[in-house]
Amino acid sequence: MEELYLGIETSCDDTSCAIFHPQRGVLVHRTAAQLDHEKYGGVVPEIASRSHMRSLLPLYETVMEASGAELASLAGIGVTNGPGLTGSLLVGLSFAKALAYGSGAPLIGIHHIEGHILANALEGALELPALVLVVSGGHTQLILMEKIGRYRLVGSTRDDAAGEAFDKIGKVLGLPFPGGPAVEREARTGDKDAFDFPRGLRRSGGCDFSFSGLKTAVRLKVESFAELTPQLVSDISASAQEAIVEILIEKSLAAVEETGVRRFYLAGGVAANGRLRELTKERLSAIRVEVSWPRLEYCTDNAAMIACAASYHIRAGRTDGLELNSFPRGTIATWA
Ligand code: KG4
Ligand code: ZN
Repeated sequence: MEELYLGIETSCDDTSCAIFHPQRGVLVHRTAAQLDHEKYGGVVPEIASRSHMRSLLPLYETVMEASGAELASLAGIGVTNGPGLTGSLLVGLSFAKALAYGSGAPLIGIHHIEGHILANALEGALELPALVLVVSGGHTQLILMEKIGRYRLVGSTRDDAAGEAFDKIGKVLGLPFPGGPAVEREARTGDKDAFDFPRGLRRSGGCDFSFSGLKTAVRLKVESFAELTPQLVSDISASAQEAIVEILIEKSLAAVEETGVRRFYLAGGVAANGRLRELTKERLSAIRVEVSWPRLEYCTDNAAMIACAASYHIRAGRTDGLELNSFPRGTIATWA
């Protein structure tokens, strides 16, 4: 019988289901993105939970049908149980528990950050030990992975996440939500040296990050102009993006030096950023560290990474009971 794992991800606003096979990789992956954000300029938790409730069952039925998987013969069900929005997490968690209860399939709760890290294992074996820079809307962390299941936090943000900084900068520039892709688009026609924005904790804080000063500096700069011309929007986008990308790389270089690893992975929604990918590759290959990142659809929130993580836990004999709960925040734990 085929060893198929179902993944379910509802930690923020995207609803996602996927079927993963340890040798054949991702068989089917479907994500339903929420479209109401633009109206509100961000994620509204209550709207996000309702949207998960509408989207989850049809998505599940689609991936089961498209992959030919049978509920009764699943090798396991992985569900993100934190960190994230409680109302959103509980929709996925309750659904996964009901499936596990009804079918007897093993259930495992997956830490969202471990999912992002293991998105790098979806299309080939990981080279370990490695450092992973997890950069998303909710997290900015440098994690040393000695092996799958063994993680050490090397640095993290002390205030905003890098994606949150992109989103807030996009908002003050009047760009659509989420700000990351919009700022990157604007930056293409802008001058990255037009404005010298602050790089937080550049000479202190070890491998930790800070982005709140940048966000304020951009807001003050925007307010200093009577009118925001399209060229100004592009120049501010390019300069702010450069400040975020440069500090992410400087801290990554410091973490490489501290840990001595020769392998580096990007993960999370901000890993979709072309400038971050390009500059990370350039600076790290200069010191002979190999860099890679997941395919675009697996950088942002998706259930393929959750199904993949579930396969590692369940094959190691780790499962959760139906008392499994969600958690709003918390650092990734070592389990192997
Ligand atoms: O991983 P993700 O989908 O959700 C969280 O776990 O937070 O990441 C979403 C974040 C948003 O802040 C979004 O603006 C950012 O990833 N993002 C980008 C790009 N694409 C998405 N940031 C910069 N450049 C991009 N191209
Ligand atoms: Zn995420």
